[in-house]
Amino acid sequence: MATINSNFLKLKAGYLFPEIARRVKTYSEANPALAARIIRCGIGDVTEALPPAVIKAMHDGIDEMATRETFHGYGPEQGYEFLRQAIVDHQFSGLGISADEIFISDGSKCDTGNILDIFGKGNVIAITDPVYPVYVDTNVMAGNTGDANESGAYAGLLYMPCTSANNFVADIPSQRADLIYLCFPNNPTGAVATREQLTAWVEYARDNNAIILFDAAYEAFIQDSAIPRSIFEIEGAHECAIEFRSFSKNGGFTGVRCAYTIIPKSVSGRTEEGTPVPLHQLWSRRHSTKFNGASYPVQKGAAAVFSPEGKEQVSALIGHYMGNAKLLRDACISLGLEVSGGVNAPYVWVRCPAGIDSWGMFDKMLNEAQVVITPGAGFGSAGEGYFRISAFNSRANVEEVCARLRYLIA
Ligand code: MLT
Repeated sequence: MATINSNFLKLKAGYLFPEIARRVKTYSEANPALAARIIRCGIGDVTEALPPAVIKAMHDGIDEMATRETFHGYGPEQGYEFLRQAIVDHQFSGLGISADEIFISDGSKCDTGNILDIFGKGNVIAITDPVYPVYVDTNVMAGNTGDANESGAYAGLLYMPCTSANNFVADIPSQRADLIYLCFPNNPTGAVATREQLTAWVEYARDNNAIILFDAAYEAFIQDSAIPRSIFEIEGAHECAIEFRSFSKNGGFTGVRCAYTIIPKSVSGRTEEGTPVPLHQLWSRRHSTKFNGASYPVQKGAAAVFSPEGKEQVSALIGHYMGNAKLLRDACISLGLEVSGGVNAPYVWVRCPAGIDSWGMFDKMLNEAQVVITPGAGFGSAGEGYFRISAFNSRANVEEVCARLRYLIA
């Protein structure tokens, strides 16, 4: 008899975004005349074309594959040196990170889930609420939790509420945690953490021999130069943090797939006996055993994001999406809604109008305005009463969403 990993049976319903897609499909099939009107501001999926510099580099990469002399078979599992070095030069210059501390992968979603392979059982895992659901679900799958209660909170996780009272930045817990998930700019709330706040987290992690898993997938959207873009801007982080970065949202790679994880050689976990072991060594072993590298043309394309033309084109893309975020923010504010995010992040986090819960708002927006948003409750119980609007769309669609919001709520 083949037994299963029964931890999967603890998972609540489907993963959030497929569940939303399922509801939208059901609605479209039941209302074919309205289906063409649907505008998707739910999942944070980019909509604009890849930067021309990336397209060219990927074409060149494919051309190299076309002749025996320049063909590439298996690449280095950790990623090509040209890309790892470009990342160091353009993203981590002066931050004490070297190219061999960078691991190229096919996505931050996979990396933030897979990282659990190198950690033991029994860790106290601190997770913000609301949260990117991958952090929770992968811990459930790994057997790091008990069952969920009625509000969806899993036994064994240390939930850190992020509410308007703390500007959606978690307070340092009064108890010990071993693994701490932080995401800034935040998905879903769009909040950012100041240098002081991140310094407090690094101090807490070092005091507790804890590891911070820092998801910086939305770093490129930070507009305020005082806000740190990397946890490695904070002194001491090289001893206690791992950072996840992605080309998905800046370079528009959601359909191309390329990301990277930074593990300084100075970050260690401990054996059960308390002996320090560098996490870099464990992840390197894991990565080279279970992963064969991102494809060569994709890594060529990713490196082109850092070329002079690539930088300009990426900055135009970010400007486009942040322009959308501003329109969405302004529209919601003008309707008297309580709004956060959308200033240093592509997500606008909005309190539902009085008397409507977050799935109720999802249904209202879909049924009455044909706009797909993400219900805050899908990110955790503290997300109840909120909804998230993604700014990843065309300008025309965002203007239309603003008009429909005005019609719906005014
Ligand atoms: C989201 O909408 O939260 C993100 O697009 C999901 C992801 O990046 O996996």
